[in-house]
Amino acid sequence: MPLVTMKQVMADSLKRALDPKEDPKERYAVGAFNFSTIPEMVGIVEGARSKSSPVILMLSLGALKYIGSLELVADTAKGIARQYPEVPIVLHLDHATDLEMIKHAVVVGFTNVMIDASQEPYEVNIEKSKEIADFAHKHSPRGLDGCSVEAELGMLAGHEDNIVVSEEDAGKAYTDPKLVPRFVDETGIDALAVAIGTAHGFYKAAPKIRFDLLKEIREVTGVPLVLHGGTGVPEEDFKKCVEMGMSKINVGTGLKMVYTDAVREAIRTLPETEYDPRKIVGPGRKAIADEIAQKSVLFNCAGKSEAILKSLY
Ligand code: G3H
Ligand code: ZN
Repeated sequence: MPLVTMKQVMADSLKRALDPKEDPKERYAVGAFNFSTIPEMVGIVEGARSKSSPVILMLSLGALKYIGSLELVADTAKGIARQYPEVPIVLHLDHATDLEMIKHAVVVGFTNVMIDASQEPYEVNIEKSKEIADFAHKHSPRGLDGCSVEAELGMLAGHEDNIVVSEEDAGKAYTDPKLVPRFVDETGIDALAVAIGTAHGFYKAAPKIRFDLLKEIREVTGVPLVLHGGTGVPEEDFKKCVEMGMSKINVGTGLKMVYTDAVREAIRTLPETEYDPRKIVGPGRKAIADEIAQKSVLFNCAGKSEAILKSLY
């Protein structure tokens, strides 16, 4: 099965999010998870498969620098998608700022790209996001609309590779619902990342999510909404976000922790004469799979794969 676009994978979630008659408990979000190695990619997909859940593989700029090539990531993800035909898999480039790099990702086969011009003035954010949406919708090797586009309005606190936003600046820059309709209409983006109180990385204290803002934003636009900074968000808050119409949830830092803890434990417990990397990294891959399975249930997207694939093929 080829990779699918974020727009395709979230169509049903969006329909449910926009339908006021939908039972909030039936709404669901698709999880997007950061990776920087093949075992992490496979662990993410294995976890999704165990719950018949769709999944989004998410490449940060830091991971790209480490791996070294967009082509290598795209080809690996395409291979994994062929290996796991029962899992709808999206390959996503996250928080990218360089327009030429994003266009390159589209051309090599990424099926969702994020242009993050959220730190730019509103008009510049519109201009750049539109340029990427226009390009991605026309130039994917998968044909028209073969790659969807996410953009961000407002600013999340914390570090995301080269994007650093202080808590003070972020506090001033929640997504303003009044700015959303024009932003979405003029850019032609397929999903909107919103700043409603989450932050990138670990929290010092539990985040205070602005559900009032989420409600207003959900009411003024018809595109899927994306929650960034999923690490450390309490389960009840995740559930409430999903019930209120959030369609994609990004988790990065927490997954690195799960992976590294399992690898550390393997090194600690295995005999010193054990040199097989599979025995050391394998538990990390398994720990990631378990975490993704648990998140699939939490985001209520377990069991959704078949219907999504049926709608596409
Ligand atoms: O775009 C990536 C996510 O927003 C990751 O955030 O590392 O806080 O989970 P996180
Ligand atoms: Zn993010």
